[in-house]
Amino acid sequence: MKLSQEINKRRTFAIISHPDAGKTTLTEKLLLFGGGIREAGAVKSNKIRKTAVSDFMEIEKQRGISVATAVMSFEYDGRLINILDTPGHKDFAEDTYRTLTAVDSVILVVDCVKGVEEQTEKLMQVCRMRNTPVIIFVNKLDREGKRPLELMDELALKLDIAVRPLSWPINMGQQFKGVYNLHEKNLSLFRPAKTQIEQDRLLIEDLTDPRLDGMLGSDAAALREDVELIEGVFEPFRVEDYRSGSVAPVFFGSALNNFGVRELLETFLQIAPPPASRASDKREIAPDEDRFSGFIFKIHANLDPRHRDRIAFLRVCSGTFRRDKPFLHVRQRKNVRFSTPYNFMAQRKNVIDEAFPGDVIGLYDRGDLKIGDTLTEGESFTFQGIPAFAPEIFKELVSTDPLRSKQLDKGIRELTEEGVAQLFTQEVGNRKIVGTVGELQFDVIRYRLEHEYGAACRLEPLDFSRACWITAATPALLREFTRFRERQIGYDRDRNPVYFGESEWMLRATMQAHPHITFHFTSEFTTQAGQPLAAAG
Ligand code: G4P
Repeated sequence: MKLSQEINKRRTFAIISHPDAGKTTLTEKLLLFGGGIREAGAVKSNKIRKTAVSDFMEIEKQRGISVATAVMSFEYDGRLINILDTPGHKDFAEDTYRTLTAVDSVILVVDCVKGVEEQTEKLMQVCRMRNTPVIIFVNKLDREGKRPLELMDELALKLDIAVRPLSWPINMGQQFKGVYNLHEKNLSLFRPAKTQIEQDRLLIEDLTDPRLDGMLGSDAAALREDVELIEGVFEPFRVEDYRSGSVAPVFFGSALNNFGVRELLETFLQIAPPPASRASDKREIAPDEDRFSGFIFKIHANLDPRHRDRIAFLRVCSGTFRRDKPFLHVRQRKNVRFSTPYNFMAQRKNVIDEAFPGDVIGLYDRGDLKIGDTLTEGESFTFQGIPAFAPEIFKELVSTDPLRSKQLDKGIRELTEEGVAQLFTQEVGNRKIVGTVGELQFDVIRYRLEHEYGAACRLEPLDFSRACWITAATPALLREFTRFRERQIGYDRDRNPVYFGESEWMLRATMQAHPHITFHFTSEFTTQAGQPLAAAG
């Protein structure tokens, strides 16, 4: 197959949601359609749950929270679909943000009872920042939830994006009868069914069709009214608006009952964008360029406690990745090759010989790769848009076993390279400060340092609440600013200076008092000061 055909075949996306909205259920149902898993009746049983790809880490099993981000690929209707799973828990938001850098589009799941929740708003901000196309799936229609029109208003307002329904529910909860597909003009009737994937579908060319009354009774008239209203209120749907990230199409259904999932999947396949060009520090890289390039967006460490291997997840951006072929590791300026790269078809790891733009592959790594690293077929450039976000909680890492402090240093270095948290060092007392976006990460860090590195530690709370990277027009100005603030200055892993603020107010005051210093809220220094992404919401 030609490279352009391979690219066109692929759709790489993430499913995101506030915890419990139904992301896992929807993912499993999509896998079911694609034959990725077979045990339809047992989708929610422990059996599938235990073998779910995202069940990578011991800690995850212990806590039952999807800590790790995994990839699941399957074929459907001639397309190769790569779903990147994201941890729903808010303490792992940074992991999710980074995963969003590796996808071409997103499906956002919203619970119709709870509406738009806090975590959903934050995730949407990241999508908007990158103009990622978003489809919204309103889930749990088998429950009494908010009225659909009310939900549409809420989605538009809270997610700050124009919305356009492409399907419309006929009642909800106990009275839920089905969904009318506004895009395809057909009606799917609801029959609670956790096991079957087929639904009754009726093609309705014309809503005045009397068969509608026969099936829906008095609800037929209500549906006609709703559809008339929708077509009057909302602009006609245009794929370009969705692909440019300015309009989010909305679907309704019930993932648990396999309802509305096929409509979602089929429309997704029609409208979702194939792998797109990506910005690098030198130029725009098009997927159909002959030469391979890609970047690392995630690292899993110590999957097997007996080996110290790590697995780096690479998103292929252009050309063809080949097994055993030497590629340039741009940051280290050296060639690297991979003898057992693998993909994740049908929930299994398979060693592959080649991979194409849109694919996400796993690479065994002995510590050479970091999040954000670019690999190319010789050219020296670095992909942009894989920033670290300013953490919000800070603790000092203190060794409680001096004999193991070397292991502790190694452990915290490796864990932070993996993206579990960010590490800053302070010159005074060589203090190590760990910054995260959630408390839970500290538990993960302590647990893993102890179990994987045999290093016991204490994490002592610090009264910093904000951090930002700082730059100035001249080194002298920067020196002058940092000189008397030793306690509030640290350095990130690349020795970039970071300012720690005790409160939002203090930070603002410092920013105002020092106009010649620029404060950045992501490591890429692209976000405007004063609009901290991680603090929003
Ligand atoms: P998450 O990954 O977004 O956190 O959500 P997940 O899919 O785990 O779903 C959260 C809960 O919501 C689960 O119930 C799941 O069964 C339920 N759920 C998902 N989709 C629907 C739906 O369409 N209708 C209804 N009524 N419920 C739905 P649980 O009790 O937490 O887990 P389980 O015991 O069912 O596994």
